[in-house]
Amino acid sequence: MAIQLSPLPAPASADPSKFVNFGREVTGVNFVDLSPQAFEEILDALYKYDVLLFRDVTLTPEQQYALTKAFDPASESYGHGDHKIEGNKKSILHPDLKTIPRVPQVQLIGNGTVYNHEGLAEAKLKHPSHTTFHKTRVSQEDEAKGNTRFYRWHIDAALYHLSPPRVTTLYSIKVPQGARQTCRYDDGTGDELDVPLGTTAFVSGKTMFNLLPAQLKSLAVRSKVKYAPHPYVWMTPARAMSTGLGIESEGLEVPLDELPPWEPSKQAVLPMTWKNPVTKELSFQVHPCGILEIIVDPLPTGAKREDALYPDGGHVTDLKEVRDLVYKMQRPAIAPNLVYPHDWREQDLVLFHNRGVLHTVVGAFTQDQVRAFHQCNLAASDVPAGPDEEDIKKWA
Ligand SMILES: [Fe+2]
Repeated sequence: MAIQLSPLPAPASADPSKFVNFGREVTGVNFVDLSPQAFEEILDALYKYDVLLFRDVTLTPEQQYALTKAFDPASESYGHGDHKIEGNKKSILHPDLKTIPRVPQVQLIGNGTVYNHEGLAEAKLKHPSHTTFHKTRVSQEDEAKGNTRFYRWHIDAALYHLSPPRVTTLYSIKVPQGARQTCRYDDGTGDELDVPLGTTAFVSGKTMFNLLPAQLKSLAVRSKVKYAPHPYVWMTPARAMSTGLGIESEGLEVPLDELPPWEPSKQAVLPMTWKNPVTKELSFQVHPCGILEIIVDPLPTGAKREDALYPDGGHVTDLKEVRDLVYKMQRPAIAPNLVYPHDWREQDLVLFHNRGVLHTVVGAFTQDQVRAFHQCNLAASDVPAGPDEEDIKKWA
């Protein structure tokens, strides 16, 4: 039997015209005995709609790993690799991840203390919060009234040595109930978004690209982003913007010569836009926190030079300039009416196209609000494809 797809329930804040091809709830799937045909339909839907939701799912860590791996059969290790690659305990990600001993590619994430869980006698989980990562924070008084922020917009990717996973699977086991919160942008725009407690928020990289004016589209299709070596160690002392969309330029990053040993050949250098393998559309896919440099190709022959940025190509190495430029390109796409904040129920399985969306955790729990999710993604066997010659001709 074929799988069935229906639009995700969009929140009242969303602009429905921007969600026509974003997100689907999938029914008619049996994960215990998934037929190759059903899997092909899921794969096709993932690339077309970027976020897929399955409800009331029972899934073991082994099944979750197998499902995730099916999207990239040659992939093997967790998306962030082992602790050696991550730069061990110095990484900003270290406290957020607990490995399931039986299936080390699957991580237990969440909040509060979980007992006797899949071979873990006791796991203390901490939901990451903007209060320890942003330069400024929502006051405790405002927080008590239910105000919060996006934590960190990102792509799941080590961005060093390993290639960004194609898909991430998130399976909710325990979801605490609590009042909705107001996610504030605090960037002078007055933007805010009503969100369920502990939502995962998604935005479309395709929309992010489509919103750009012609001048910035031309720049996007001609640019590559070079990331810092061991970016999650590098950024640990630095502080983020109030929107969670990148880092404030205050010179706080770990100096490159004080990082764990690294090789320039392992630094990630990735196209700014990634080509969807099914729809052939471009997504603006940049992990704003890890960026270090932008390398711009010259305009192709025949392109209009008028108004073009870096018509003869360029190499932007001033970190503030790099960040300001990327921020200008990404900020429009996280506007409240373009965000899908998922309202988690227990036993939800969400699959997202990690090469077509940006996502972030949102909000804050109290210590007694226990949340337990299984997360899996795998360092990909290939690098994301950038724009092809036709795309560059069309947009540059
Ligand atoms: Fe993530």
